[in-house]
Parts: sequence; C-alpha cells; structure tokens
Amino acid sequence: TVLVVDFGAQYAQLIARRVRECQVFSEIVPSTMPVSEMLARKPKAIILSGGPASVYEPGAPAVPVEMFTSGVPVLGICYGFQAMTQTLGGVVERTDVAEYGRTDLDVLGGSLFDGLPLAQKVWMSHGTYASRAPEGFKVTATTAVTPIAAFENPEAGLYGVQFHPEVLHTEHGKTVMKRFLELAGVRPNWTMVNIAEESIEQIRRQVGRGRAICGLSGGVDSAVAAALVQRAIGEQLTCVYVDHGLMRKNESEQVEKDFVASTGVKLHVVDAEERFLSALAGVRDPEEKRKIIGREFIRVFEAAAREISASEDVEFLVQGTLYPDVVESGGGTGTANIKSHHNVGGLPEDLQFSLIEPLRALFKDEVRALGEQLGLPPEIVWRQPFPGPGLGIRIIGEVTRERLDLLREADAIAREELTRAGLDRDVWQFPVVLLADVRSVGVQGDGRTYGHPVVLRPVSSEDAMTADWSRLPYDLLERISTRITNEVREVNRVVLDVTSKPPGTIEWE
Ligand code: XMP
Repeated sequence: TVLVVDFGAQYAQLIARRVRECQVFSEIVPSTMPVSEMLARKPKAIILSGGPASVYEPGAPAVPVEMFTSGVPVLGICYGFQAMTQTLGGVVERTDVAEYGRTDLDVLGGSLFDGLPLAQKVWMSHGTYASRAPEGFKVTATTAVTPIAAFENPEAGLYGVQFHPEVLHTEHGKTVMKRFLELAGVRPNWTMVNIAEESIEQIRRQVGRGRAICGLSGGVDSAVAAALVQRAIGEQLTCVYVDHGLMRKNESEQVEKDFVASTGVKLHVVDAEERFLSALAGVRDPEEKRKIIGREFIRVFEAAAREISASEDVEFLVQGTLYPDVVESGGGTGTANIKSHHNVGGLPEDLQFSLIEPLRALFKDEVRALGEQLGLPPEIVWRQPFPGPGLGIRIIGEVTRERLDLLREADAIAREELTRAGLDRDVWQFPVVLLADVRSVGVQGDGRTYGHPVVLRPVSSEDAMTADWSRLPYDLLERISTRITNEVREVNRVVLDVTSKPPGTIEWE
C-alpha cells in the first residue's frame, strides 16, 4: 500500500485516487498518526499532501525526521514539500507574491521529470516557499516566483514538489506521480480482477457458513456490494428489494429481472406501493413526506428481515459503504454509521447484525469499474445518484399514483434523450420535477389547455455538496421539451432550473 498523509486539505482524496489510477492501492491516514504507526503498516511509499497551514506557524503539523530516514520513499506535495524542507534543514519563507492557479514550470532535470517537456503548466496554490533546499537535494524545477518548485534526493528516495500533481490542471501531473511510484519500486497490481478476488476471499472468511441479507436500493453501491457477496457466498445471501412505488420507469424491473439474471442473486421483493401511497395521502410538506417514507421503509424492511431471519437465522447485513464515507467519519474501523433514513438505519435492538462492507476501501469510480467487472448491466453500473425517497420528493404537492405515472413518463423521456445525446455520463444528475400544485394556460391543437409544468434540473457536481446547473445544448432541451409536451398530455410547459447549489439544493424538496 501507499500511504497518503492528510494535512487537512481537500487534496488527499484526489491524491489517493490518482495513485489508484496508477493501479497501486493507497490509503489516507491523518497527519496526527504517529510515524511509527504509519511505518508499522509497511507502506511501499508515502505521499505527504498539501494543507492549509504554513510550516513556520506555531501549531502547524510537524513531520518528524523518522519519516525521512526509514528508507521508505517519500513524495512531499505543497505543504508536505515544505514540511520535508524544514525537517531536513532547508529554509521555508513567506513569499511577497503568492502563486495561485495555472503557472509555468521550468524543469531543470531530475528523475521525476525524466523525458517530460522542460516547460509545463502546473497548478500552484501557496503563499510560502522553500528558499533553500536541504543538504543532499538537487533543485529540479523553478517558476518565475518560486526558486525551488521541485527537488529530489533519489539516493535517499525523497522527492518534493511545490505544485499539485494530483489536480487535472497540472499537465503532466499523473506522469509525475506515476514516475514517483516507479522510482519507489511499487509494482502496479491494484486491478479490478485482484480487488474482486481479494474481497471475495475476505467475505468468505468473515461469513463462514453464516447467512446474510442485503437491502437493494436500485443504486450502484448496493448492487455491486450484493453482487460481490453473492460471488463469495452464493445461496447464503438473500437480497431484499422494497418496491415503494416511487421509483422511475423500468427501475424496479432492472432490479427484479436484469440484476437477478446477471448475478443469480436470491431476491425477496416486497411490493409496498399501496402502503407507501396511503401513508403519503394528503401530505404536501416535504419534511413530512421524507419522514413518512423513511419510517415506512424501515418498517417494511424490518418485517422482511424478520421473516427471512425466522427461517434462516441471519447474522450479517451487507452495506454499500464507500471509502469517502469512511474517511469522512474519521477513518476508524469500528461499526459504520448507517446513514440516511431510506437505508436500513434504526433497526430494533433484537435485529442487530454484523456488517459486511465490501466497498469500504473503494471510491465511486472504482465501484463502477468493479460492477462492470462483475458483469452488471450498464443501466445499473452507470446509474446517476437517485434519492432514497425517490419521486416522492420530486412531486411538489401531494403524491398520488396518477401524478407518479405522469412524472415517470416525463422523466423517462428526459433520460432517454440525454443518453441519446451521449451526455448521461457527463451530467451528475438530472431530476425532473412535477409542479403538481401549479397549473398554467397553454394552447395545443386548437384548444386551450390548463396543465402542469415540469422542471428540468440537470446539474454537474463532484460530490453533491455543491453543484452547478448543466449547460445542456439548446437542441437537446428542445427535443426534450417537445417530446414531453406531446407525449405527456397533462404537461403543457417545460421549464429549466438555472440555479446553482448553493443557494438551491439539487432536489426541490
Ligand atoms: P440536495 O437536494 O440536498 O441533494 O442537494 C444532494 C444529493 O443527495 C441526494 N438526496 C438523497 N439521497 N436520501 C438519499 O439517499 C435522501 O433522502 C436524499 N435527499 C437528497 C440528491 O439526489 C443529491 O444527489
């Protein structure tokens, strides 16, 4: 493994992802972890991330010299580069001119840049710089403002760069990182085949002859988790799919037919549409809707789990927890927080399970690659995020079956056209929202209409915490609008949401 030491910037996850793109397993550890503990993990190499602090400020996280004398190769990036400089006897100072953004780098030589152009664009973000390299180090790059933009001591296995090789704006960033891993002698063996084989082995060891259940949401995480566990323990796994009637067109069929066909999973389907719809009858408040859907979901899932437990003595619950959740909750190895109401949180005391979390080490893009490797249908592997409460929070007003059917049709048209335009993997999410309590006047044929508007809400995002509205091509928007108003009779107006997040959230409720 390669350890990425996180000095508190948002870059650590990016670094870890880039390392994995080089087919090398990487893990993030906090900078507060003692170096002895890091070394005890026997890393093949260590990368020190950037961070918001300046090394000479009181309280800035220091890096002890053992980090650099153990023989494990180290790459310092930005803050990590400056910490390396300071610990090894170089000098770090405040600059008069800070460097932010795209910068011209002049390469002077060195093994990290071997074979790369001497002039490169790199991404900088710093207000301090190294003015003297530690003894034994050779300066390998400069910029107009920064005399030492990179240095190295290959005999000691130590390398540092002031710029950020992990961001895509740095032209040859990925090559620089790959070069470091090669120089460190790390062999690339983190491939989807190996990942699948290793986790299948691990699941078998964990479960033994026990029984497990897994709730399927229709989303990629639970599907890939279930498929892996199925490969590992076959018939000992039962999947539960609660059909709450709030899914989009064909999604339940995808789970019930395509997913089962491609995995051989034993599936228990609960048709709970009636139950959810009657619980939602007359309710218009968004929070109340969410609470009702969450509550009903837990009740239905619990009943199904009890039923299966009664005949099979189930001990394990499969969860699709991903690596970013693990990192964000402190990286501990304890029982994971089961989050968001539509998941199986809040199960009663006497229904406690041990967790199987086969995706705990993976990023979303790795989960998708693994899903492809396991032969899951592309509609599931590439599905965009979809909220647990489903279309229930995309109907502004009371949720009824007629309105759900309407929205399902409009939504299916939007998705179909987006896919046909080849943009479905560029757009993060494309909610279509029915303003069921609003009517507007229109004209169709020769007659007056008084129908409902739908809102198109395509957004681009990296993590759903912030988002921007997608600039979809006008002709695509036109096709969607024409088709929806022609094919969905009750809708006579299509509008586009051009609000970023913040201030608007992605979903309307
Ligand atoms: P908002 O609307 O808060 O949504 O900008 C951010 C992301 O979260 C999804 N979302 C949910 N996902 N259960 C979920 O699993 C929920 O209750 C829920 N509400 C919103 C939303 O689709 C977007 O991707």
